[in-house]
Amino acid sequence: MANQEEFFKKVVAHAKEYGFIFPSSEIYDGLAAVYDYGQLGVELKNNIKQYWWKAMVQMHDNIVGLDSAIFMHPRIWKASGHVDAFNDPLIDNRDSKKRYRADVLIEDHIAKIEDKIKKEVDKAHKRFGEAFDREQFVSTNARVVEYQKQIDDIRNRYAECMNANDLAGLKQMILDLEIVCPVSGTRNWTDVRQFNLMFATKMGSVIDDSDTLYLRPETAQGIFVNFLNVQKSGRMKVPFGIAQIGKAFRNEIVARQFIFRMREFEQMEMQFFVRPGTELEWFKYWKDERLKWHLSMGMPAEKYRYHDHEKLAHYANAATDIEFEFPFGFKELEGIHSRTNFDLGRHSEFSGKKLQYFDSELNESYTPYVVETSIGVDRTVLAVFSHALHDETLEDGSTRTVLSLPAKLAPYKVAVLPLVKKDGMPEMAHDIVERLRPQMMVQYDEKDAIGRRYRRQDAIGTPLCITVDSDSTNDNSVTVRHRDTMQQERVSIDNLQGYISANI
Ligand code: GAP
Repeated sequence: MANQEEFFKKVVAHAKEYGFIFPSSEIYDGLAAVYDYGQLGVELKNNIKQYWWKAMVQMHDNIVGLDSAIFMHPRIWKASGHVDAFNDPLIDNRDSKKRYRADVLIEDHIAKIEDKIKKEVDKAHKRFGEAFDREQFVSTNARVVEYQKQIDDIRNRYAECMNANDLAGLKQMILDLEIVCPVSGTRNWTDVRQFNLMFATKMGSVIDDSDTLYLRPETAQGIFVNFLNVQKSGRMKVPFGIAQIGKAFRNEIVARQFIFRMREFEQMEMQFFVRPGTELEWFKYWKDERLKWHLSMGMPAEKYRYHDHEKLAHYANAATDIEFEFPFGFKELEGIHSRTNFDLGRHSEFSGKKLQYFDSELNESYTPYVVETSIGVDRTVLAVFSHALHDETLEDGSTRTVLSLPAKLAPYKVAVLPLVKKDGMPEMAHDIVERLRPQMMVQYDEKDAIGRRYRRQDAIGTPLCITVDSDSTNDNSVTVRHRDTMQQERVSIDNLQGYISANI
């Protein structure tokens, strides 16, 4: 745990030091749970968004994009259920005066038990070596079975309280589990209350007469209310999808863990409209497809797992999370939900407009069912960035910090470095930069010794460094150094573009 915390601190510090992510409004002491993306962070984030857009929109005949406004008619949030039910259960500790989400206190308690299971598994793995069968151990070891039972009991009791909106029961759980405030160490808790997460604002020049608007807490509703516009103008046939990337806002009670839980963040959402009765097949399709997308970025399979929801929201008939192993454990990165015809049905009811589709093959009209995929951009940045960051000890005993980002996501694809600032090397390097620039992000760097420049590029994740040296002007070749292996190759400038394309 201590190591994980140390590592997470390093992630945050590295992101700031190298211009990926800054605390918002820092010179005014920051704004809690709001962050700015710096010169490299914006490149990484844009690359992730483009990668998602390409996979969802460009690669599918039947998925189109949308960019709906953040401000929407206030009744939309009544129809969607957010005004009445987009709440988190909140609890205060009277001694520390700190505020917590009751469900997060319980999840943290579960994480401690999971940690104990992990320790038992690691111990046994060491003892049995190669022959270790994890599945068998977990299902038969008495201690692990008991820990797992504790977790299941807690989850069941929690779900019962939430389904019954039993806030007193939730507080009793916190007392029974002997959960203490991490700051004061006491169990002096207030009652649990519901807290709505939407930010409200006013529209119009005369504030008194104006309507209360909400900053959208998800981009999905912008898609639902444009269902007919897109379907008709795009002549879309069910099954089809509408994809959108955009900002969402939630007044999170517990805002910690860096860009994992923010008050202003970005989502990449896709609503897939299908024939009633086919939604569970499509749910399975998107569940598989979305995990494949994560892996296709070059991320390892063992960092991901599904978490199928046993207790479903009243409008859903299947739901799963794709969880990622962040530096603080496995947590939700993406949600895939089969939302039935709930949203279109509610908007029909509240707007008075029929949101239906005429299916010419069936010769009937119906309200399509919806399978949703919803992923946070910032959580994806954190997943990719934290997985990529590591320290390495080299053969000569020195260390280097490397950000092994998948090349397709790296802010700069190549850096061009003249070995020294004379003998025509800077001119030749500039010339290479100008040639490569139309195709990719390139950085020119001539400051400091070449070793330090390599380290700087390693730390920001640049996959290839191109060095122009004293031979380059004679043989029209450069040295290309690979970030991860540090191997170097001599490449003719005429072949440079092809070489780079094959290697990033
Ligand atoms: N339309 C469905 C929906 O919004 P969600 O599970 O509440 O579902 C989807 O959010 C995704 O948005 C999450 O899996 C997560 O990646 C991201 N997300 C949600 N709240 C967030 C927050 N406060 N900060 C950063 N990302 C968040």
